[in-house]
Amino acid sequence: MISIKSEREIELMREAGKKNIMTFKEIEKHLKPGITTKKLDTIVHDFVVKNGCVPSTLGYEGYPASVCISVNDEVVHGIPGNRVIKDGDIVSVDLVISYKGYHADATRTYIIGDVPDDVRDLVENTKGAFYAGVACVKEGARIRDISRAIEKYAHDHGLSVVEELVGHGIGASMHEEPDVPNFDDNNMTKLKAGMTIAIEPMLNLGSKKVYLEDDDWTVRTMDGKPSAHYENTVLVTKDGYEILTGE
Ligand code: MF3
Ligand code: CO
Repeated sequence: MISIKSEREIELMREAGKKNIMTFKEIEKHLKPGITTKKLDTIVHDFVVKNGCVPSTLGYEGYPASVCISVNDEVVHGIPGNRVIKDGDIVSVDLVISYKGYHADATRTYIIGDVPDDVRDLVENTKGAFYAGVACVKEGARIRDISRAIEKYAHDHGLSVVEELVGHGIGASMHEEPDVPNFDDNNMTKLKAGMTIAIEPMLNLGSKKVYLEDDDWTVRTMDGKPSAHYENTVLVTKDGYEILTGE
């Protein structure tokens, strides 16, 4: 069952989205070479709570942190720890928070200092892939339209698409139906106004293959090449969409 949100629920999700993006502004003040990912997690936790929200990932299926921080070849679900951010890293920050029971999910990948041109392109084109996907969103369009647009954009830019993880419905739960894959899996489900979905391309510079680390959370590229991630929570409307976690 795909839930259709009421006006009241949409308003709460808008508020959650605003507070999510406020948290990114706070993160950006601190995300510099020398900071540990654990310190960033603490900053996020305290900021989110101060704003009357709950960090959705903390304790979720045992996940131990308020934010996922994935560096370089880490694709998703990196656990904050003693790792020190350094010049030349790319850092994906994936944050889900809830406000009065409604979740907002967003990811940004940051470039720290100087990186090679192909890595910069990876980061920029992963954001581009999100926008190619979201451009398809409106009542009556199919999930497949989003998936195909992202996949085509990625391939046109020489990038590969991670298939093991997908976007998702979101609302009173962090993960709801439908799945929103970043590759064409023939999903003919039609979008309706009032659905809320997280669209989140995860694109690799090298091969699409990934593996799960021994910590049971961190997903890494098999070939050790970098991966980027970009995500927003999106409301489907009659003739388009509204990005609830827009900057
Ligand atoms: N933002 C992630 C997602 O889209 C949520 C992190 S999952 C967790 O699915 F398990 F690490 F909490
Ligand atoms: Co998500």
